[in-house]
This record gives sequence, C-alpha cells and structure tokens, in this order.
Amino acid sequence: MADIGAADSLDALEAIRVGALGKQGRVTALLKTLGGMSADERQAQGPRINGLRETVTAAITTRKAALEERVLAARLASEAIDLTLPAPELPQGSVHPVSQVMDELAEIFADLGFAVATGPEIEDQWHNFTALNMPESHPARAMHDTFYLRADEGEEARVLRTHTSPVQIRTMTSQLPPIRIIAPGRVYRSDSDATHTPMFHQIEGLVIDKAIHLGHLRWTLETFLKAFFERDDIQLRLRPSYFPFTEPSVEVDVGYSIEKGRRVIGGAEGWMEVLGSGMVHRRVIEACGLDPDVWQGFAFGTGVDRLAMLKYGMDDLRAFFDGDLRWLRHYGFRS
Ligand code: PHE
Repeated sequence: MADIGAADSLDALEAIRVGALGKQGRVTALLKTLGGMSADERQAQGPRINGLRETVTAAITTRKAALEERVLAARLASEAIDLTLPAPELPQGSVHPVSQVMDELAEIFADLGFAVATGPEIEDQWHNFTALNMPESHPARAMHDTFYLRADEGEEARVLRTHTSPVQIRTMTSQLPPIRIIAPGRVYRSDSDATHTPMFHQIEGLVIDKAIHLGHLRWTLETFLKAFFERDDIQLRLRPSYFPFTEPSVEVDVGYSIEKGRRVIGGAEGWMEVLGSGMVHRRVIEACGLDPDVWQGFAFGTGVDRLAMLKYGMDDLRAFFDGDLRWLRHYGFRS
C-alpha cells in the first residue's frame, strides 16, 4: 500500500499492479494457497485474502485516476494558447474605385427616384444599333470601333455592347412608362491609349413620361453633378451635338478651376466635356412600341471611369485595370 501511494508514474504503478495482482503476483500467490487448505482454514483465510485483493485493487484504481489527472493537467499547461495575444494581420481587400463610384451614383439617383436597370454585355445589333436609330450601313455605326463576335451561318453577328444605351431599349420594351432608370455597366470599344481602354464603364440615364423637356434634363444633371462632386459651385454648359438616338442632342461640359496646380471640378476657369445627352429620338420611342406623341423623355450617358478620375485625382485610365496592388491600396476604398 505504501508503494502504491508513492508510485509517481503510470508505468511505476503498473509494475506494482503486476507484482501484486499479475499471474506471478504476491496477492495472486496467496489466492492460490486457498485451494490447498482445509475447509475450516479456507473459511477463515478466504475473506481475508479476498479482502486484501479488493483493497489493493481499489488503491491502485484511485492512484491511477490521480496520476492520469496529473498527466492531463501537465498536457493542458504545455499546450495552452494565449487568447489575449493579438492575431497576425491578414491582407485585406478594398472596393475598386469604379465600383465605389457606381455605388455613389446609384445612391444619388435613387434619391431622385431612379431605379437601376441592367442589360447583357454581349448584345445583338438591334438593341445596340438598329433600335437606337442606327440602321445597317448608317454612318454612325462606324463611330464606334465595335468588337463583333463570330456568328453561325445565316445568323447576325452579336457584338460586345459599345455603350449602355441598349439598356434604354431593353427597358422601354419591357416596362411601361413612366420610366426613370440608370444603367451602369461595362462597355467595349476597340481602342487603347492613355485615355482609352478596350473595356470601360458607362452609366446611362433614361426618363420617359408625358411632357418631359430639356429643362428636366438640365436640372437632373446639375443636381447629380453637385451631389457627386460635393460642391455647390458646379457650372454646366450645354452644347448642341449629334447622336442618332437623341434629338436635339446636347453635349454637357462642366466647369473646372485650378486649385494647387490641379484641375478640380467647380467654378468656371475652363470647361471639360463629361456627358452626352438629349431628348430621346421619336424613332427610338417608336421602335420600342410606344407612341412618341404621348411619351417623350431624355437620356444621357457618361463614363464612370472618367468621373472617378476627376473626383479622386487619378491620371492614367489604364491603371484602373492593371490590378497593381500598390495602386489598389492607394486608391481603393476600405469596405
Ligand atoms: N451612348 C452615347 C455614347 O456612348 C452617350 C449618350 C447616351 C448620348 C444617351 C445621348 C444619350 O457616346
């Protein structure tokens, strides 16, 4: 019993158990002597020897539990994790400036009651050109350096949409006026230099209702540009222009000034073209199955990437799509 109490490892305790209760153990040997005893003797010795076996077994079981607990405690101590240590920092992504600007625009126009509409980037020629008053062989089709997709025999080639204006058509052919939508998204033109990338982003606006006029267009653009550039001194200049799908067509310039050697939007030290727009051509309204004597409205389109550059002071459009982490960390927005 003293050895059991002094055993300080599970191995040592096991050796003691074998020495007492194993096949050759001392208690086992005593148990074996019972067989050679007389009945009287066995009656006297039986309970004593069996009692000894039970006492030894119980002492070993108790000691074993104590030693196991000690082993577990030692393991828990050695494998402990300090939950108060700061975790190593993981690289974190950011919102791309183009996504940020599209979100800002959607929010500004939502306040003016515009819903967001979308259309496919692979578009058919009817939506991208024909319904926008650019019939086949119309010279204006050559204004866009269009990417054409390979077509099956006898089918018309589809295109990568060259502007977001086909979403005007998709909206007017799928919902009844009054319509107030914006359509942000990717567009494609075969063009590449410091200010042009073959893929870029536009946002389209379309309002169709009764008695909509150019004054509504001007107010809408002025309100949107003031909210976007967060300045009250925004000046607009509307110049007559030409788009096949608007009549009249107007190009919109916004005034800028020079602050600390940099061009910033606001004031009118110079003018910068930011938008194409106009009253939706009656042929476009007709092509969508609406009566142009009842319904009319305005449309506008502008480059999201350009707006981002002007607002956040980036100078090379190509950097937008290089995926350079240093650029993204500098201009990206924490989500
Ligand atoms: N789709 C024209 C462009 O890409 C812009 C525009 C949109 C002009 C709507 C007028 C009305 O240049």
